[in-house]
Amino acid sequence: MRTVTTLDELRTARFALKGTVGLVPTMGFLHEGHLSLIRQAKAECEHVVVSIFVNPTQFGPSEDLSKYPRDLERDLSLIEPLGVDFVWTPTAEGMYPTGYQTWVEVEALTHPLEGAKRPGHFKGVTTVVAKLFNGVQPHKAYFGQKDAQQAAVIRQMTRDLNFPLEVVVCPIVREADGLAMSSRNKYLEGAHRQAALVLFRALSAAKDLYETGGRDAEKIRAKMREVIEAEPLAQLQYVSCANYDTLDELDVVQGKTLLSMAVFIGKTRLIDNFVLG
Ligand code: PAJ
Repeated sequence: MRTVTTLDELRTARFALKGTVGLVPTMGFLHEGHLSLIRQAKAECEHVVVSIFVNPTQFGPSEDLSKYPRDLERDLSLIEPLGVDFVWTPTAEGMYPTGYQTWVEVEALTHPLEGAKRPGHFKGVTTVVAKLFNGVQPHKAYFGQKDAQQAAVIRQMTRDLNFPLEVVVCPIVREADGLAMSSRNKYLEGAHRQAALVLFRALSAAKDLYETGGRDAEKIRAKMREVIEAEPLAQLQYVSCANYDTLDELDVVQGKTLLSMAVFIGKTRLIDNFVLG
């Protein structure tokens, strides 16, 4: 399996591919969640390209870009058996050369939830994803429901900028005990790993409330808060019960609904979500 780095190498490899191309954008340190996207792309497209790029512009000043876990060799060995055509590993200098000054920004959808807690984050995400789309020119691009707002923002950007491709959103892959897989789980050890289950517990409790007829969104948010606040190692950042498409907070749950949350377990920030309806 080839890896390409420069835009010239990418173009040569890309235009040698005939037929449908699926793109799976990642920041590496791959786990079963990423691999599930690659498998789905493989099942739906004649060719699959994976990108691995720890995108500096989506990290805030207080978020440690240099500490983001990386292991390219391991990533390539995980991808190899899946039948990917090639892996694109751009460099930060290649993506953002000196004098770089063009940004893609989605408005209202990026304001609540993750956008409120991580200013500038989505501007970095949409800019890099637009550049990945332009580089690879895929027919389909695969994202995880794990990052629900990111998926919504990228769908919006794709529509708004007329990218001629389909955004495919794949289900969350979880550990056997319910913890959503994430590259950041590597920071969780011992009691913190156990405490991290509180996100799944809170979402499950909220879903139970919904399934027994609960439709008061504030009661559903209160239930999630209550479960999280009972875990001493957890520090709640937000809980949300929002319209799935607009991400507007609900008063009454109806239609497709996104339950989501961000919680610090020690110094590790975790996000998770369930979709109702
Ligand atoms: P990264 O965090 O590496 O995630 C790459 C893709 O894998 C994202 O679409 C994410 O939603 C998906 N993913 C992560 N964990 C998952 C899980 N447990 N189940 C299913 N899918 C999962 O998200 C990014 O990178 C970046 O923001 C990126 C889109 C690559 C732009 O830089």
